[in-house]
Amino acid sequence: MGDSFLTLDDLPPGGKTVLLRVDINSSINPETGALLDDTRIRRHAATAELLAEAGAKVAILAHQSRPGLLDCVPLERHARRLAHLIDRPVEFIPDVHGELARDAVASLEPGEVVMLDNVRFDAEEVAVSSWNGENFTPQADTALVRNLAPLADMFVNDAFAAAHRCQPSLVGFIEVLPMATGLVMERELRKLGGAIADGPAPRIALLGGSKAADSVAIAHHFLSQGVDEVLTGGVVANLFLMAGGVDIGAPSTTYIREHIADWEQVVADALTLRKEFGDRLMVPVDVAVSDGGLRHGLPVSELPTKHPVHDIGLETLVAYLARLEKAGTIIANGPFGVFENPEFAASTREIFTAMANSDALTVVGGGETAMVFTQMGLADRVNHVSTGGGACIAFMSGRLMPVLEALRHSKRRFDEGGYNK
Ligand code: 3PG
Repeated sequence: MGDSFLTLDDLPPGGKTVLLRVDINSSINPETGALLDDTRIRRHAATAELLAEAGAKVAILAHQSRPGLLDCVPLERHARRLAHLIDRPVEFIPDVHGELARDAVASLEPGEVVMLDNVRFDAEEVAVSSWNGENFTPQADTALVRNLAPLADMFVNDAFAAAHRCQPSLVGFIEVLPMATGLVMERELRKLGGAIADGPAPRIALLGGSKAADSVAIAHHFLSQGVDEVLTGGVVANLFLMAGGVDIGAPSTTYIREHIADWEQVVADALTLRKEFGDRLMVPVDVAVSDGGLRHGLPVSELPTKHPVHDIGLETLVAYLARLEKAGTIIANGPFGVFENPEFAASTREIFTAMANSDALTVVGGGETAMVFTQMGLADRVNHVSTGGGACIAFMSGRLMPVLEALRHSKRRFDEGGYNK
């Protein structure tokens, strides 16, 4: 990774004014404004602390929610929480790049940290957010960059969870400031990227949940990258069964037709994958259906069914667990059944517990998967839980991500001596 991106080893931050972009977009109680989850703030605390300890003057940029939503609030509570975590003051500045913000950044002393306000209060941050696929000139040509860049020496991008976005606060500074990865970004790229591309063999991916289109893209990228096997569950498995010509019954078929955009294309893509990768892409041999809310097992050979398929079956579960026992690397994204209902939580619980007990390198996708691991008390027993929701999916699908491209661009420019600072 160090070859493609600048890190803090390349840009020692001591005495420098550092703009630090984090992603501390968190669940908030819209009525009280209270933070309901501080996972991301806790992760980024390490980077803020490292910079402050090194004697950097740190100005933090971050977003919360999207304009128009009730939880699109100022970052005052985020700053207070961060201050508590790093045990040093983090002054909240109720301004993004106006005079107040500029004065605050300009008057920072070594080791001091300020947090500027929610960057999504800035109209350009929201409006100038599409990527032309070539450069970041539109994002660089914004008031945020013009106002803050002259005050800073370097930019640290730690916002992995927003790395699929192309907003000025994420990519706009690279024309003028060298951009390095922070600790969260580095860890995500090392753990997620490492597990996919060269984790210990055999590498096994568990793909479940209801975002079947994403999972088909992820399965394709994983199998092309040399992941040995993809084991499917949830709606993803239903879709792969459908692609293989199995009639899964009216309720589950209707679910796919109604909930998956462009489902016919997704099924066609799934069929292509099954043909290309054969047995490396595993589908259930039996399922559990909901018969009036009760679990009822059924071999795939006995489908279709008039009941909705809500979990993989026992025989499939046993086969999957046997494969996991031999795994060198396990990557999980998505639950294997309707885990919210205890009747259909069995496979998700068994599989995720096996993962937590495994000696393999274990990596968990962000968003819903991370939430299930936390709810099941397993999050501390795997090697890495991603902070990214959409970003993690984009990364696991092998999509080009603007922030990663900007980091590469900045490294090239730095190597060519293209920065004055
Ligand atoms: C997230 O929570 O996934 C990131 O912060 C990105 O948020 P966004 O989807 O509003 O850009």
